[in-house]
Amino acid sequence: MARHIDIEKQRETALHDAVDVLLSGHPVAIPTETVYGLAADATNPAAIARIYETKGRPQFNPLICHMASIAMAEEYALFDPISRKLAEAFWPGPLTLILPLKPDSGIHALATAGLDSVGIRIPKGFASALIAAFGRPLAAPSANSSGKISSTSAAHVEADLGDRISLILDDGAAPVGVESTIVKVEKDGSVRLLRPGGLVAKDIERVAGIKLIRPKKASAAIEAPGMLASHYAPGASVRLNATSVEKGEALIRFGGQPIPGEEQAAIVLDLSPQGDLAEAAANLFDHLKTADASGAASIAITAIPDTGLGEAINDRLTRAAAPRP
Ligand code: TXA
Ligand code: MG
Repeated sequence: MARHIDIEKQRETALHDAVDVLLSGHPVAIPTETVYGLAADATNPAAIARIYETKGRPQFNPLICHMASIAMAEEYALFDPISRKLAEAFWPGPLTLILPLKPDSGIHALATAGLDSVGIRIPKGFASALIAAFGRPLAAPSANSSGKISSTSAAHVEADLGDRISLILDDGAAPVGVESTIVKVEKDGSVRLLRPGGLVAKDIERVAGIKLIRPKKASAAIEAPGMLASHYAPGASVRLNATSVEKGEALIRFGGQPIPGEEQAAIVLDLSPQGDLAEAAANLFDHLKTADASGAASIAITAIPDTGLGEAINDRLTRAAAPRP
């Protein structure tokens, strides 16, 4: 079991002890508004290697480097005018910008997977204070073992990684609940949505003044098996767009509407009885874990509207339902 520090009760201890662990080159689980992150010094190759080792990541994916301020981000990356506008409008917050890395920035190639770009985000709340205290960017993927559901509470982190890390900072349930939205401004000024997430695409389009170029939808039905990265996978299989529940299945529904067969379900959960997509995003990973823990072999999930935050929710659900490697 890892040591837990409650940020509300012991903020100074949390800051001080987390900086000590980071300085020693080890990762710390930290709260952010999106999901919990497994954070380590982005300039220290041994520390970054320990992130990959802890998560059991099969290959070196580029990691998001978290900053305390735009001024700090400017030390490491080059901002074009649109990226700057987006940063000023949405940081701190659930937005990651892919930007050209400055030469000799100090961010280690293990964090960027050797790319000449870097994913940068300023998180809300305690995480920013920790980065400011540490004085260097923190590389942090979501705090879960590779391919599994992201953690939105300290208890999730403990259950998944508690035997592999020494310190978990606890700031309660992550308020957004899905990972950041990732965008990249191309050289020609077009803006690409690389991952839908906790910042609604429409809000980005409003500030950028341009429509986002979207990735091909992660669709289990259309794409050939193997082409689609299975991710966010619970132990149980996942059945989307359910309109009824089979005996013994777990049910996750939306909007408070009962569906046929519920009385025989192993468990019935609702992402948002009021039909609020922000509430649904905040509950998504926790409900997937709870449904999985019911022991049901299959999780049936009703259709979720694809507007606003529904885009990120449906992206994660499609990956959760994708054929497993
Ligand atoms: O909300 C979040 O984004 C959370 C919290 C902890 O900040 N972090 C997170 O990190 O979701 P992770 O490692 O699970 O996802 C990082 C994503 C990957 O899909 C990676 O491919 C992409 O960011 N990424 C990072 N750097 C990139 C780069 N230079 N170019 C393209 N994609 C990049
Ligand atoms: Mg992740």
